[in-house]
Amino acid sequence: PTVAVLAGGLSHERDVSLRSGRRLSVALRDQGITVDEWDTDSGLVARLRDERPDAAVIALHGGEGENGSVQSVLEMLGVPFVGTSSRSCRKAWDKPIAKALVAGADFATPDWIVLPHSTFRELGAQAVLDAIVDRLGLPLMLKPDEGGSALGTQVVRNAAELPAAMVGCFAYGDTVLAERFIDGVEVAVTVLEGEAGPRALPAVEIVPENGVYDYTARYTAGLTDFFTPARLSEETVKAVGELAVGAHRLLGLRDISRTDAIVASDGTVYFLEVNSSPGLTETSTVPMALEADGTSLGAVFSGLISRAVERGS
Ligand code: DAL
Ligand code: MG
Repeated sequence: PTVAVLAGGLSHERDVSLRSGRRLSVALRDQGITVDEWDTDSGLVARLRDERPDAAVIALHGGEGENGSVQSVLEMLGVPFVGTSSRSCRKAWDKPIAKALVAGADFATPDWIVLPHSTFRELGAQAVLDAIVDRLGLPLMLKPDEGGSALGTQVVRNAAELPAAMVGCFAYGDTVLAERFIDGVEVAVTVLEGEAGPRALPAVEIVPENGVYDYTARYTAGLTDFFTPARLSEETVKAVGELAVGAHRLLGLRDISRTDAIVASDGTVYFLEVNSSPGLTETSTVPMALEADGTSLGAVFSGLISRAVERGS
């Protein structure tokens, strides 16, 4: 089949996506698959209609690539694609919605508050900031409610840092997610779907050299140490796997996903978020998990492409 690898796009994660797309395309060609690398732009709809690839793989991150928009277009045009449906992407992409759905199934997730920008006008900035600290304590986390690669995400260590951090976070969108800070070990758990249903792959433990897994620590080789499998007890490995498969199911994810979680010092596993289009770059954790599972990016994605072509959507 001819497969279109959709990458690039116009989100803040454009560069990351180009790297994911590049690596995936090389891996698929190694499997003998005919790959077209598409730098996704506003011509996408016309190009899909004209060229009608046999299948598409979405290596887009952020914005249209993960919020269900591109998936809607593929669904409308009847182009089979690897990954999650538009409807489920919308839920997974919205961090507060994903947290609420996962928490509803009795998984732990850091306590949180959703802050639309209008709240500050309506209630007064100082009152809102005080209420956040009262409720969540310090340190706390701020994240854009939709976003990826930790862009806009900030650790706020004292109340004096809060106003500037808030402004930094609102630069990425009009709603901020504030979360209680959980001290612990960060893990990324890939879920892969096969004939027998979704299965958790070995968890990857993430240890950023400077303590914060920000954009630079994610995409600069050597700035973060990864341990695969994660150095966790058998019991905790089971718990992080159950969380990742649970989140994959609850959010209706398809083919492959990655759940990010924190294991607190008391062993509690906290859900942070799920990624319907996880990074596939040289420093991304999904390819590490696939290798630890004894397979490879190319083998797994060529299998997922066959599944997509078979189901026809
Ligand atoms: N948003 C990036 C690509 C990730 O989650 O891997
Ligand atoms: Mg993410």
